[in-house]
Amino acid sequence: MSGKASLYRDLGRQLAALIAGESDRVANAANMAALIFNGLPELNWAGFYFTQGSELVLGPFQGQPACVRIAWGNGVCGTAASRGETVLVPDVHDFPGHIACDPVSQSELVVPLIENGKVTGVLDLDSPRRARFGNEDRVGCECLVRIFLGR
Ligand code: SME
Repeated sequence: MSGKASLYRDLGRQLAALIAGESDRVANAANMAALIFNGLPELNWAGFYFTQGSELVLGPFQGQPACVRIAWGNGVCGTAASRGETVLVPDVHDFPGHIACDPVSQSELVVPLIENGKVTGVLDLDSPRRARFGNEDRVGCECLVRIFLGR
């Protein structure tokens, strides 16, 4: 198993232990953001946006203060939400419509939260390093989101 795969396996176990027996979505999201932010190297932001009508609204996160509302379909987060699939952006400057909350961010990974066929939010990770995220991060973060959603 690669170093990254075993890191995500460990994070998955820690996340499962952190949220076990707790059903409060905000509390679990807050702990998950803290776990990821402190457990994965080279991040400057990790957190959630939750769906409210036609917008994504900022949820628990770690990092610099961020934009509060993102219209469905806008930016990397809104694109992942409207597609209902993970979006991996190696260089945010090459992504038309990228929303620069923190100018330090160079690459981004956004995983949608899908419940009963609906996108209820997204997990968003930002890095100050270009091409920080690869396929192992995509698979690992999708796995963490499944644990968060209780699957
Ligand atoms: N860059 C995101 C906005 C959220 S922040 O990165 C925290 C986007 O383009 O959707």
